[in-house]
Amino acid sequence: MCGIIGYIGKKHNVTDVLITGLKALEYRGYDSVGIALWNEDMFKLIKSAGKISHLEDKIRKEGNMTSQMGIGHTRWATHGEPNDTNSHPHRVGNVTLVHNGIIENYQELKEELIKKGYHFASDTDTEVIASLLDDIKKNKENYLEILQELTTRLRGSYALGIVFDQDKNHLYALRKDSPLILGIGDKENFIASDIPAIIPYTKQYILLEAGEIARLSEDGIDLFDTSLKPISKKIQQVNWTMEQAEKGGYSHFMLKEIMEEERVLKDTILPFVKDKETLLSKMPDLKKYDQVHIVACGSAMHAGLVGKYLIETYANIPVTVEVASEYRYKKNFYTDHTLVILVSQSGETADTIAALRLAKESKVDTLAIVNVYGSTIARESDQVLYIYAGPEIAVATTKAYTLQVAMLSLVALTMAINHKQMKEEEITMLLEAFQNLPEILGGLLEKQESYFEIAKMLDGSEDVFFLGRGVDYALAMEGSLKLKEISYIHSEAYQAGELKHGTISLIEKNTPVIALVTDEKLAEKTISNIKEVKARGAKVILVTLESLDRDYDFCDQKIVLPVVPPFVQPILVMPPLQLLSFEVARRRGCDIDKPRNLAKSVTVE
Ligand code: F6R
Repeated sequence: MCGIIGYIGKKHNVTDVLITGLKALEYRGYDSVGIALWNEDMFKLIKSAGKISHLEDKIRKEGNMTSQMGIGHTRWATHGEPNDTNSHPHRVGNVTLVHNGIIENYQELKEELIKKGYHFASDTDTEVIASLLDDIKKNKENYLEILQELTTRLRGSYALGIVFDQDKNHLYALRKDSPLILGIGDKENFIASDIPAIIPYTKQYILLEAGEIARLSEDGIDLFDTSLKPISKKIQQVNWTMEQAEKGGYSHFMLKEIMEEERVLKDTILPFVKDKETLLSKMPDLKKYDQVHIVACGSAMHAGLVGKYLIETYANIPVTVEVASEYRYKKNFYTDHTLVILVSQSGETADTIAALRLAKESKVDTLAIVNVYGSTIARESDQVLYIYAGPEIAVATTKAYTLQVAMLSLVALTMAINHKQMKEEEITMLLEAFQNLPEILGGLLEKQESYFEIAKMLDGSEDVFFLGRGVDYALAMEGSLKLKEISYIHSEAYQAGELKHGTISLIEKNTPVIALVTDEKLAEKTISNIKEVKARGAKVILVTLESLDRDYDFCDQKIVLPVVPPFVQPILVMPPLQLLSFEVARRRGCDIDKPRNLAKSVTVE
């Protein structure tokens, strides 16, 4: 977790660059924040627990500080509570640094350094890195060699921005398993955890790889490999506009991102669905696989559950879906015909990366579905399918989830074709359904006010249940997660038929139940289960299809979805529920884009 920004140059005010970058990176963590600026003859630290505005107040009190170099950090606590002392940058002797990641052997290093006389003010692993560097510096003068030795001593994940008082013309960066990019400007250069932090200043960047060391000056960037041999690397071009990375007139990033779903669905699926030949030429060849493991975390795992339903139902291939943090430590059964699909918006989720590496060590083919171009999962997987969601800033995923479901649907269709499980007419019909889908989704989003109206039903509720059977249960899980993570209302998703085996005892007068009935084959069964909760006093919000819409006496409110072929129906279910959750959270005054305790990109185990 955590976000890093660094700047060297005279073209812009360093403090402004750092603050702008930190605001763009706040999605990576936002419990404390800090900067270090070169000031006269040393780096000066300004740090604060809480939001960036607190840091800005402190900076204002310091008065005008002119500088040509600085580093900044927004934190998501891993070692020690979020307070001023634990926040970054950390400074020991003449070394000042910011860190994203976790040092696994920090305790062992700390004990060694304590024996050498070091004292530690914070609880962090980062202060250990600063002390270690200070210690290495006692026997070495060349900064590159100092950093090279550092990499041999650290175990774990890190992206580091480092400055030395005696070398005020250089900013150093290195990484392993945590992301870091180098922004290239004209007479100015940057380091950052992610692209939005540098977009206002430059669109050119380099991806730093594990083990590489970067030395930035005002005039350029020198890169070195692990043996300190100079290397050159491809310069990448950012294809996002600043406007895409900002709120675009919406009150919240989450709302903006939901409302973008029609466009990003078009961008992502239309290139594949012109005709069968186009689909097969753009998709990997999936003929070989007779077993699939889908591995992901959180919402991406929920998207995987929809993928499982589609691949099993239409391609007739068994699929397991596992949470990555479990998968990486359990026994997995592979054959030469197993495909492991990793689903991740950020492409940097630590557990999903570990699952990917496990599969690769076992020599199993891997396919990633990822949003962030050039992210670790995208780079390390055998094959990648990108979703084109653009930057997703709100911590709770919305548009990326919808695109993950859409991309998994295309994978399912390809597998069904590859395994000869589908007639030509059905393939043609489904490709047409995909082509029409973005516009239908757009029509659903236009009805946002009606979902906002329904949201009022949840005013004052502290417990909500989501019910569904089959694929509706997979969707209910995501609906429930979305609601609880942003509104802090306790919510559970249940298989409709399972509730009466215990949990129904929690249903009392006015408990809201959001019941999903979008699979015509299972509708009658689920409706019987809804009647059971209604009879116990529940208030029911029914999410169903136009074809199933009746004047039901058991439902208090309805969200009615247009009928599309069942294969693509799941893609339409979540957007209205995302808008409903958004409004529930807004009515409760929650910090929707940055829910408490969460971070956008979970780069720790
Ligand atoms: C929930 C949410 C998370 C992510 C999960 C995986 O709204 O956003 O559950 O889906 O942390 O993240 P990625 O997709 O980046 O691997």
